[in-house]
Amino acid sequence: MLSERALTAAMRVLGRRYMAHEPTSLTTLPPADPERTYLLYAHVPFCERLCTYCSFNRFLYREDLARQYFARLREEMRMVADLGYRFGALYLGGGTPTILLDELCLTIDLARDLFDIGEVSSETSPNHLTSEVVERLGGRIDRMSVGVQSFDDRLLRVMDRYDKYGSGQDLYETIVRAQGWFSSLNVDMIFNFPSQTERMLLADIDRLKDTGCNQVTFYPLMAGPNAARALADTVGRIDFVREGEYYHLIDEALSGTFEPASAWTFSKDRGGMIDEYIVDYDQYVGIGSGALSFIGDRVYGNTFSLADYDAAIRSGCMGLATAGQPYDARAMMRYRFINQLFGLRLDKRAFERDFGVSADRALWLELTFMRAAGGIERDDDECITLTPAGRYLLVVMMREMLSGSNELRDEARAALSPAERMLLLDGQPLPQAECASA
Ligand SMILES: C[S@@+](CC[C@H](N)C(=O)[O-])C[C@H]1O[C@@H](n2cnc3c(N)ncnc32)[C@H](O)[C@@H]1O
Ligand code: SF4
Repeated sequence: MLSERALTAAMRVLGRRYMAHEPTSLTTLPPADPERTYLLYAHVPFCERLCTYCSFNRFLYREDLARQYFARLREEMRMVADLGYRFGALYLGGGTPTILLDELCLTIDLARDLFDIGEVSSETSPNHLTSEVVERLGGRIDRMSVGVQSFDDRLLRVMDRYDKYGSGQDLYETIVRAQGWFSSLNVDMIFNFPSQTERMLLADIDRLKDTGCNQVTFYPLMAGPNAARALADTVGRIDFVREGEYYHLIDEALSGTFEPASAWTFSKDRGGMIDEYIVDYDQYVGIGSGALSFIGDRVYGNTFSLADYDAAIRSGCMGLATAGQPYDARAMMRYRFINQLFGLRLDKRAFERDFGVSADRALWLELTFMRAAGGIERDDDECITLTPAGRYLLVVMMREMLSGSNELRDEARAALSPAERMLLLDGQPLPQAECASA
């Protein structure tokens, strides 16, 4: 599809520009805007086993390192409170936030003590979705999101998840058992994995519907340059033409049971909060190693090194390592355009109120492109909404924005110490002598 290819190319350039970071000597985030409510994102970068395709900041789990890390995370949370931030919601992402339940409970409880948090969301892995976890987290987490990726045993093996998290049938039973434990249960799936066929995808959707989960997120396979090369050498190249076809297949197969809640999330209760926190909050503070913040007109990034993060917090500084250039007015308007349309609706009145110029005038290029590609469903004085073709274009935009962050992560990982790089490799124990410095 020509529009997809043109957009991928344009977003690659824009994504790199908007996500570009420079090392910073800043030791603290700017103070809060007292008029604003933000989202608090806390990153827990540990997993018991590492998935080869995974593009997130994650390290092989070691209890001592993880306990030390959670303690620093809570210290950084206190620093954020001292800056006057108000948060409406807490999102715990990973990695695997549920990896140490007692530490996670302490962290959530502190957030509730410090801030007026309305809703807590967390990610988890299927092996943690047990009655023991629910009892321990009882009442603390409202929305749980679990990574399934596929119910197909062959695909789970290719993804190297079969041995870690069980067969498709095991995963199915886990999700069925977890019904009713949380006010919302989201299942993460991946589409356009190189060896995935149309049949596998449709069978996955049938299985998903049977689980009774109330929300599903279908991520297109995303890869930074390193991961893309590794995938091409093992399972095959990522095919973007097929990505568009599969997206429409998913959209049609889910309709009637799930409705689009964002470009890649489908929900049974349309009003419920969705997984993409940036849709509900366009300004957020990220704490923890590798977490990003978007505050005012700038992106800030925390260090990817666990050792540097620990040292920074111990010395009374935040975990900052990089900062982007301030966004100009045009970039802020584009950010609003992508964020809101990713959440399926651009509010034209709010746009004009906030930027002093109409969306039609400020975003004429973007809107002309979307119209020509058949992407606009409704366009009146009030708002713009999307057709399925338009939703797919937003998937492309977000895929490229996130792939821009993946490049940053690749660069940051390359700069880690040898000891920390060992923690990026699954199945290889960290030598004791080097652990001490990690
Ligand atoms: C950060 S993970 C946390 C979930 C949990 N650790 C698990 O894997 O079960 C959140 C989700 O990101 C998605 N994800 C990870 N790497 C991805 C990639 N390279 N492309 C697309 N989606 C990806 C997966 O669907 C995963 O469930
Ligand atoms: S368990 Fe989740 S976060 Fe960890 S490596 Fe696998 S996909 Fe990534």
